[in-house]
Amino acid sequence: RELDVVVVGSLNVDLTAGVRRHPQPGETVQATALTTSAGGKGANQAVAAARLGARTALVGRVGADAHGEDLLAALRADGVETAHALRDESAATGTALITVAATGENSIVVAAAANARLSPRDIASARSLIASARVVSVVLEVPVETVCAAARAAREAGARLSLNLSPVVDLPGDVLAAADPLIVNEHEAREVLRIHGSQVPEGEVAYAEALRQVGARSAVVTLGARGAVVAEPGHTEHVPGIPADAVDTTGAGDAFAATVAWRIGRGDSLPEAARWATRVGARSVQHPGAQPSYPELDQLTGTTERRHAGSPS
Ligand code: RIB
Ligand code: NA
Repeated sequence: RELDVVVVGSLNVDLTAGVRRHPQPGETVQATALTTSAGGKGANQAVAAARLGARTALVGRVGADAHGEDLLAALRADGVETAHALRDESAATGTALITVAATGENSIVVAAAANARLSPRDIASARSLIASARVVSVVLEVPVETVCAAARAAREAGARLSLNLSPVVDLPGDVLAAADPLIVNEHEAREVLRIHGSQVPEGEVAYAEALRQVGARSAVVTLGARGAVVAEPGHTEHVPGIPADAVDTTGAGDAFAATVAWRIGRGDSLPEAARWATRVGARSVQHPGAQPSYPELDQLTGTTERRHAGSPS
């Protein structure tokens, strides 16, 4: 197969204001800084995978405006194939309004715009691209019928499907069953379990196996600084987190999911892939922004070698 990862998902311009603390409703706070950078959960994943050396393409939509041009140029600069990253003449480019507090914690408002117009027909046109991928990584922020079409196209092409269900939507059973893995954070995991009428078990380690029981083929529950729990048939494992001083957690989950997609396409087991992904995620939270904070492969191995030199683990 020609491509390691085909990502189906959103592209946004991220307008990020640094604040000492997030404003309350009705309150105005002063920003300490304002930056514009490339984001969107789909584009973030594509760039994160490409920086690690994965041959990557993105299926998505931007508007026919300057922001859209910039986002596509950013993808190409990182070597992401953009033949199916379409320019939509009748919509604006997606935009995310982000505040990042001094703790590194963010809050985000997304205006989907062109992302909301990515259609099942766009997936049909990308059929041969999808069929050339080892792993198809699908993210939300695009219509759920498009997510379903992408998942089914991956399954029919024999590509492995990684599904990052963020934000959570109610998916048909066959799409959930194709997710290998389903990737969610702990809040999302609880929501998925509730939607499927399953009891939320005690302790996050049990969430991943519970997600398998409601239908996912395999599952990864990300726990932020505490790592991730991975459940495959017959095997559940907690992959520990890597301590990091977070300045901006925006897009860390996207970097994590992209790394999992790349590694499982290279034949890693899910726990091995998650170990790589925690390293990439930890690296990304130490730098501002989403895409600007993603490491190249050599930066990553440099970081880990230093870490290993300093700790007996
Ligand atoms: O996951 C982070 C991303 O969510 C940001 O880049 C923003 O664009 C929103 O889509
Ligand atoms: Na970051």
